[in-house]
Amino acid sequence: TAPLTVLGLETSCDETAASVVRLTPDGVATVLSSIVHSQIDDHAAYGGVVPEIAARSHVEMIEGVTRRAMDEAGLGYEALDGVAATAGPGLVGGVMVGLSFGKAVALARDLPLIAVNHLEGHAVSARLGEPVAYPFLLLLVSGGHCQLLEVRGVGDMTRLGTTIDDAAGEAFDKIAKAMGLGYPGGPALEKLAAAGDGARFDLPRALLGRKDCDFSFSGLKTAASRLAATCETDQDKADLADAVQKAIARQLGERSDRALKDYAENHQHRLFVVAGGVAANKTIRSTLEEVARRNGFDFLAPPMAYCTDNAAMIALAGAERLQKGLVSDIDAAARPRWPL
Ligand code: KG4
Ligand code: ZN
Repeated sequence: TAPLTVLGLETSCDETAASVVRLTPDGVATVLSSIVHSQIDDHAAYGGVVPEIAARSHVEMIEGVTRRAMDEAGLGYEALDGVAATAGPGLVGGVMVGLSFGKAVALARDLPLIAVNHLEGHAVSARLGEPVAYPFLLLLVSGGHCQLLEVRGVGDMTRLGTTIDDAAGEAFDKIAKAMGLGYPGGPALEKLAAAGDGARFDLPRALLGRKDCDFSFSGLKTAASRLAATCETDQDKADLADAVQKAIARQLGERSDRALKDYAENHQHRLFVVAGGVAANKTIRSTLEEVARRNGFDFLAPPMAYCTDNAAMIALAGAERLQKGLVSDIDAAARPRWPL
């Protein structure tokens, strides 16, 4: 059988993205193009993503972004084997833009449509860097999600734990906002933390010693936001940023440690993968790498460009689904909520 070439579209939050990915029958992915138009400038003044603005911007950008992805791949639509679009979860107005555009391409070119769960895209994203074999244990940490998953393949994942309140990225963003760092907060907070020493701040440790794999960040968010109001100098802020980053990394590490130990009891495989926007954070990466090493697991994170939202991960999830014959009906619905 021949490789599959799939166009992927991603519009579930504030990135308009299109990508062409080729997948060989034995599972090796090549990214032929990956275009991401960030709407950060459109939303910055509001301190967060405004759904109405996001949806309108996706409408304006989606055709041009897709054309660039096809041009950079050096392909015409006739070279495609399928069209994959994020169908949720996310801001439904935006999801509808990419999904409808994908349906239009699929109809016009008589191609199969693959409606992709955004989380499944993140789950396969490490395979964009190297041909990682299934199964693996995954920590998915983004702005909207914080979950530990057992990943056996597309359409075949089990959730081991999730956040009982905020996602890790959400904690970064909200604390950064309280510190006046602007949006999005994660990268800004990481940069500031490099100049800080958080040792003097005592931040709460949630769920310590609990025997499940759940997360909680709301106590940390409240405590850090209160401390943010007491910061007087730039050094105070940098110190707090360092403390916050370490506290988030510590909890992600502690909960992952528990999941790895449980997983190791029932599985031969020893691979731990981290994905999602927060996986771009270097302190968090190295904390998790250390936890994996201590438990005898290999560790892998996607290339930086595929940690935050992109369409290559959607194209790859679509191609893997297509390989399994998991295609969608043309009337596939946009789903604001869609647990894996
Ligand atoms: O995966 P993503 O692009 O979108 C969602 O699906 O949510 O993740 C975005 C999140 C935001 O909360 C952002 O602040 C966080 O990832 N993030 C980071 C870093 N880069 C992005 N958090 C901490 N450190 C970073 N370097
Ligand atoms: Zn995402």
